[in-house]
Amino acid sequence: MPAKSRSLIVGNWKMNGLRHSLTEIAHVARGYDAKLRHSCDLIICPPATLVCLAAQQALGSRIGIGAQDCHMEANGAFTGEISAEMLADCGATTVIVGHSERRSYFAETDGDVKSKALAALRAGLMPIICVGETNSDREAGRTLGVIKRQLVGSVPGSADAGAIVVAYEPIWAIGTGLTPTLADIAEVHRFIHRELAVIFGTHAAGHGRVLYGGSVKPSNAESILAVEHVDGALIGGASLKAEDFLGIARAAPARV
Ligand code: PGA
Repeated sequence: MPAKSRSLIVGNWKMNGLRHSLTEIAHVARGYDAKLRHSCDLIICPPATLVCLAAQQALGSRIGIGAQDCHMEANGAFTGEISAEMLADCGATTVIVGHSERRSYFAETDGDVKSKALAALRAGLMPIICVGETNSDREAGRTLGVIKRQLVGSVPGSADAGAIVVAYEPIWAIGTGLTPTLADIAEVHRFIHRELAVIFGTHAAGHGRVLYGGSVKPSNAESILAVEHVDGALIGGASLKAEDFLGIARAAPARV
């Protein structure tokens, strides 16, 4: 398990990337020097078609490769689906579950997300469980209530607390160039850490890292990653270019 003392920087390529895009991973590997390895862990989640190739390419680089979704069953008659076991077999170490695009375009419920997180753990993958409020939730003052409902519904409290990562991604900040204020990020992250302590009970101190996601770029990464209780970032658009992804990683503080 990666040390919590280092930031975790995760790239989510979404439905972008062909085989030639693997050169970006090679570029990230070249830039992931000793100094950066000291301050942060890097994971790149390409589309499912590239997971095997990316994992081969990343061998020896210490960059983790992850997927963006998985099915909750290990195998069976689920045409078009990919199980966590299949992803692990390809060399993935991680899988994002419950991204807001999956929740809204594919009607995934909190219960689905919890089942997928459990499937990931069953297969030996680290689930990154995404939560986040809509703009209207925020305007109506419902942010913390929505986050709490998603955490209680999506995070498997019976699991090893340290094996799970949570990503806070306000839906209105994803791909929009908008970000919450640093004070708002701090408030939600403090709240998430507190709720995880409740969900995992006595194992509270050992719960996994909580990432911020939504329009993180090299230009705002330093201030966001310096916010208390922000243990790293989940990056969409800016993860597609190695230099931008590395720029964000270089902005991560060393957490001693
Ligand atoms: P963005 O996406 O960085 O492009 O805003 C973040 C995400 O969806 O994980």
